[in-house]
Amino acid sequence: MDVGVNQPVPDFLRDLYRQCLHEPALAKGLIQKHIVKNRSLGSKRRRLYQQWIIDGLRWKNVYQKTLATDTSLTTYNAILDEHIAALQNKMYQNIEDLADDFSFSCDLVTSLAKKYSFSDIAKILLSMHTPAEVFLRMNTYLQTPPQIQKSLQQDGIEVEKVPDLPFALKVLRKAQLTKCHAYKKGWVDIQDYGSQMIVDHMQLGPKLNIVDGCCRTGGKSLAMQNYTQGQSTIHAVDIDTRVFTELQKRSKRMQATHIHTYDIPAEDPNPLPQLAGKADRVLVDAPCSSFGTLKRRPWLKYQYNADDIKKFAVIQLEVLQRQCQWVKPGGLLIYAVCSILPEETTEVVTQFLQMQTGFSSHIEKYILPYQSSGDGFYLHVLKR
Ligand SMILES: C[S@@+](CC[C@H](N)C(=O)[O-])C[C@H]1O[C@@H](n2cnc3c(N)ncnc32)[C@H](O)[C@@H]1O
Repeated sequence: MDVGVNQPVPDFLRDLYRQCLHEPALAKGLIQKHIVKNRSLGSKRRRLYQQWIIDGLRWKNVYQKTLATDTSLTTYNAILDEHIAALQNKMYQNIEDLADDFSFSCDLVTSLAKKYSFSDIAKILLSMHTPAEVFLRMNTYLQTPPQIQKSLQQDGIEVEKVPDLPFALKVLRKAQLTKCHAYKKGWVDIQDYGSQMIVDHMQLGPKLNIVDGCCRTGGKSLAMQNYTQGQSTIHAVDIDTRVFTELQKRSKRMQATHIHTYDIPAEDPNPLPQLAGKADRVLVDAPCSSFGTLKRRPWLKYQYNADDIKKFAVIQLEVLQRQCQWVKPGGLLIYAVCSILPEETTEVVTQFLQMQTGFSSHIEKYILPYQSSGDGFYLHVLKR
């Protein structure tokens, strides 16, 4: 079937792209509504158009040069390939050239330049323009790894073990994961490498009192349940009451019976006093810019500016200061964000340690987007 790859990109698609750039916070919904769920386009066109928009959000400065012309999808691909080839091994001397070549704001590159060399920044930005791989987490609380892998294989889902994570499987080919038997039975969850790595660093075991202080829909709480084989108590906390319906649905599918949910007021300086000094582990997976997830969500780089990053950092420090009260002496406080910007990572922890006595740095880890085929993230384990 001719899907028009050699025809000019249709006007509706160019308009949609402009709208995504104009309102990046809506980009995901717009792409879903007008492309992914628009059955009238046919599956091949849907795939091609989605890829064209995603590439365009990654490489805005390249697209801008041809957007007003009758360029075809094939020509866009050739132009992009040429642009990317020219970036290989290029030596950078200034922030502006990096920002221009990789379609990032100077603010963001300036932030990265506080911590990384120009050549490292080029590697980071290039890797953020590649697609992320998908990972599953096995729920060994319900089923053994060989049975889970057999079931996935029977459903045609190709996976491979991830060497440094006990429950992780990398999905080797695109598949409808939520339709497979193992997913429906709660034997697997879709969870990025980074999220699993964060839980892996929590030093979990039986008989612990654990708080997931910013739990959202509970991906990490559910991983904690698996790491503790249901033999610890998990307190899942959030300020957004809407998240708990989905958390409860997920808990039911994965038969997680040790997760207790709590909603707390956003501004409460002393939330859940009954937990004060009682927790063996507190995870603060704080709200952030999510810049570590640009492989999957390229529009985010247009959504937040330097002021927004500063605001995130203020919230992150506040949440950390409030939730550290739950940690008992000898317990661990784990700070995590899916961002690699210094303002949201080391700088927050440095300020926290200056202001709060009784905690010391134990393990600090950055996973840069080029070091993993999943998202980039930061974690810092602190000991009380
Ligand atoms: C990065 S998300 C957490 C992701 C989650 N841990 C997971 O694995 O899917 C940040 C969450 O923090 C919540 N949040 C924001 N401010 C908070 C606060 N002051 N106390 C607790 N949770 C907060 C948000 O509602 C959001 O659900």
